[in-house]
Parts: sequence; structure tokens; C-alpha cells
Amino acid sequence: MGYGTVGSGVYEVFRTNKTSIDKKVGQELRVQYVLDLREFPGDPVMDVLTHDFEDILNDDEVKIVAEVMGGLHPAYEFTRRCLEAGKSVCTSNKELVAEHGAELIQIAKDHQVNYLFEASVGGGIPIIRPLNSSLTADVIVEISGILNGTTNYMLTKMSREGLNYDDVLKEAQAKGYAELHPEADVEGWDACRKIAILASLACHKNVDYKLIETEGITEIKLKDVNYVAKFDSVIKLLGVFKIEEGGKVYVRVSPAIISNDHPLANVTGVFNGILVKGNAIGDVVFYGQGAGKLPTASAVAADVVDCVKHTGKNIKILWNPEKLTLSDLGDFERQYFVRMPADAEAKAITAAFGAVEMVSVEGINEKAFITGVMKESAFNEAAEKAGHIINRIRLD
Ligand code: HSE
Repeated sequence: MGYGTVGSGVYEVFRTNKTSIDKKVGQELRVQYVLDLREFPGDPVMDVLTHDFEDILNDDEVKIVAEVMGGLHPAYEFTRRCLEAGKSVCTSNKELVAEHGAELIQIAKDHQVNYLFEASVGGGIPIIRPLNSSLTADVIVEISGILNGTTNYMLTKMSREGLNYDDVLKEAQAKGYAELHPEADVEGWDACRKIAILASLACHKNVDYKLIETEGITEIKLKDVNYVAKFDSVIKLLGVFKIEEGGKVYVRVSPAIISNDHPLANVTGVFNGILVKGNAIGDVVFYGQGAGKLPTASAVAADVVDCVKHTGKNIKILWNPEKLTLSDLGDFERQYFVRMPADAEAKAITAAFGAVEMVSVEGINEKAFITGVMKESAFNEAAEKAGHIINRIRLD
């Protein structure tokens, strides 16, 4: 369902890799229909194209449906009806999974079919399956992820080639990485849904993405990138889930400064990287192409194969509808990088933030510094006291 960037990729993967996929599942898989409102003259998909969802629903030969339409409606209704009709559904639709994941997983279970969503996070990177099956012996205490290919592509281009924000956004759109409305990428909304999905799987409860504090990359300037390079670090848009001793759970999306030796520092371009910390296994890093036609399609197609292998059997996914209570980020402690105008007085800076470490870049006439470790609430108070702050970025 859906013959856009990912949908056409899924079709292509099944055509190109037909022999090998059929061999792996031990039977012939056939694409029975492709649902889309548009026509595609000259495209081989015309042989199987339908504009009517009921064709799919009412055909008993259709056992597995790939929902790659995106958006909540009608994807939600179509998915529900397919599952209730005893058809498994595989999806790349992170909006739908973040909003209705727990419910659709339950419906799939009730009908002994599967709702699989590997492609919804990290494009082609296997991350959902490892969280659900390989890392089950661990308590997951942290997930930090570069979860949006578009913004990572943009930040990489800005830092490596000194290009400006608007030009790099246009490039990412031209390459088919960006969402239909690129605010979803640059404002962090896409990463927010993805970290909500991962956090839900990590703690087996429902993490409501609407409650996650989310900040995008729209305020990041080339100057920030240049300052940060001075102290051997880079800026990344991170989705972070963290459980502290004592049980406080923090989830956020925001630009973060990480040092060049952090495992995610060298995740560049459209690649995503996800660092998972378990209480027994320690750190595990997942890396691969986080956006784009074929990588995402590969994950959808792999889910289809999994559904065939589990015909008549529901794969247990631990994601209960019970809501997880998130802790107030104001209590979280960390350092901050701050930029203020050149005329900011050193005394006023120290009075507000205490001892700070100044950073300077030749040719930029500003006061920039790194604070000591402080609670986010204390930082916000200090920032107000200090007066005009041009930008501030969290250090992770
Ligand atoms: N716009 C998304 C990204 C697509 O850039 O990561 C993959 O979810």
C-alpha cells in the first residue's frame, strides 16, 4: 500500500531479489497488488496496480501487506482492517507506529498474525528486532541515536564543507531523504517518534511521543559548528532515552555536542547510528543507512520474509499500552555550550553560571564558553539571569 519512494523500493527489492527471497522462505512470494491513487504509465507496476483497498482486503490469497503510505489516515484504518482480516502487516510508517503501535500489536496478537515495523526506525538498520529478541536478557538503560538521516546529512555537510543550512536542506530533499514536510526532519519531530518507538520497546510500556521534549536543528549555525570543532567535538541531533539509578526515565530529542571519540561522532551523511546500553551487555552500536529508498525497503521486505516464516504464529512484541511516566528534564545534569554577544561581561557570565571554560574561534567576535555540570532547571535560571544568549547546546 503506497507506491512512493519506499513502496517502489519494496517492489524493486522483491523483483530484483526474487530468487534469493523465494529460496529463503521456501515458497514463491508474489506481489498481488500495489495500492496507490496515482497511475504509473510505463512502469511494470501497472500490471498489479489497484486504486481500491477493498481488492486487497477481500482477496484471501493476500496474506501479508506492506503499508508504506505514511501518515496516520487512512494508514491506520487500512492496517487495522488488514490485521482483523487475518493478514500480517509490515510497515515503515513511524507516525503510525508511534501513535498506535501498542494497539496494533495487540490486534495482531488477537488474530494470530504479525505487525512488524523494522523500517520505522533507522531505515535499513536492524534495531527493532535486536531490541525485541537479541537484547532481551538485559535491562536497557540508555539508547542514544542519530535517528534522522536528513538532519545528519545536513549537519555533516555544514561541518565538513562549510555549506549553509538552506542549501544542504535542498540537497537532502533532492536525494529523497527528507519528509514531505521537511519541518518533520529539521524540527526533530521524526526523531521524536523514532525514539518514542525505541523507548517503548526498551521499557515495554508506551512512551507517548507527544510528551517528549523535542528541539530540532533550526537554530544551529555554522558558527556553532566551528566553535564545537575547536574542542574536538561535533553537533548531532540525538534522540535519547535514559534510565537513571532510582528509576527516573528521561527522553528527549535535541542537538547535542559529542566529542570526536564518542561512538556516534563518525556517523555521517545519511547514516544513522544507535547506541544501546544494556546493564549486562554494555554498549552495542547499530549503524547503517537511515533513510532512502532501497535501505528502508530492505527492512520492510525482511519483515515480510519474517511474516512468511511465522505464518499462523504471532511474534511476541513486548510493548504494553500502559503509559510510561517520564521524568522532568529540569532535573537532568549536564554541561552546556553557550554563545553570547561580544559585549557580555565576564563578571556577569561568572555570576550567572559560575566558573566556565571560554572557547574562541578566529574571526568570530563573540563570548562563547562551556559551563560546568548543572541541572537543566539551574541552567535555564542562569541563562535568564545572564541576559542575551545567542545559542546554547547541550553536551552529551
Ligand atoms: N526523513 C527521514 C529521515 C526518512 O531523514 O531519516 C527516514 O525515516
